[in-house]
Amino acid sequence: MARYVGAERALAVSSGTAAMQIALAAAGIGPGDEVITTTMTFCATAHVIHHAGATPVIVDVEPDTLNIDPAAVARAVTARTRAIMPVHLYGHPAEMDPLLDLARAHDLIVIEDAAHALPATYRGRVVGSIGPLCAFSFYATKNLTTGEGGMLTGTHALVDAARPWTRHGIDRDRQAASGTKDSWWYDVVLPGFKCNMSDIMAAIGLRQLEKLDAFHERRIAIAAAYSKAFADVPQLQVPTERPHVRSAWHLYALRLHLDRLTIDRARFIEELRLRHISASVHFIPLHHMRFYVDVYGLSASNCPVAEREAARLLSLPLHPLLTDHDVDDVIETTREVARDFAR
Ligand SMILES: Cc1ncc(COP(=O)(O)O)c(C=O)c1O
Repeated sequence: MARYVGAERALAVSSGTAAMQIALAAAGIGPGDEVITTTMTFCATAHVIHHAGATPVIVDVEPDTLNIDPAAVARAVTARTRAIMPVHLYGHPAEMDPLLDLARAHDLIVIEDAAHALPATYRGRVVGSIGPLCAFSFYATKNLTTGEGGMLTGTHALVDAARPWTRHGIDRDRQAASGTKDSWWYDVVLPGFKCNMSDIMAAIGLRQLEKLDAFHERRIAIAAAYSKAFADVPQLQVPTERPHVRSAWHLYALRLHLDRLTIDRARFIEELRLRHISASVHFIPLHHMRFYVDVYGLSASNCPVAEREAARLLSLPLHPLLTDHDVDDVIETTREVARDFAR
């Protein structure tokens, strides 16, 4: 995996969530610290900040990609900020250069949530080799899967600091340093978690890694077919891919022009379901989640762009095992619903 993305080091773990959790631990983030992340993500990104004892500071997104807005991040930096956690939403890389510039200027660490972004590139650099720490997910639905699983990539120093956090903080190496050779000896150097990847998961992952480029090509082809077919449908807005990135196309997030439809997003999804097409929503923003509203006081006024855009999102089926017939079926059905309920 380190070779594949061009990282100095890679550390296999039990989930994408675990990869983010040990990244925060390795970076020494804890109580009193603030970590800036985006409202357009799965709850795990913010949960790990909360579990570290730090405060998640949730900011708004850019209107085209729905990725974290670097200008909003800049406004949110305080004396207590320690890290920025961008999410490469749907597999489209966030704007890493301004985020890394901000991090340098304020002495922050960037920990990427790349759960969706294998394989993706940003200005010719592969995600996983760009920032100091980057977390991937190998959950069942992801572009590469080990059933459950994840990977942390990054610099030698930070990934080595993260390693003992995966196995109870156990250290057997000191023995070598101190000259003792007892096979049973170990020390516990920190209160680590238990989140290593098993050999069985790794065996699946190695085989998946060989197939990853072919999987990715298929995802690109399906996304291109959808975007071509929906380009002339006034009720639909297709996802963007900025010219300097290559998306991993983990998800295909369509946006509805609700003012040109007689039905809302929920009914659109229901009409697709009645025609045997399963769509979903990625994501209901964090500022709608009761825990984050109650504990961190989030509201729509914090994130006006996400508030507006999230209401008209839906994700169409996208995975490498879709046949051309399946893809045509999704296209025809989606166009039909848009046409049947056009205002
Ligand atoms: C954006 C994002 N971050 C993190 C995760 C967590 O990954 P995992 O399920 O491997 O813990 C997910 C999804 O599952 C995700 O979609």
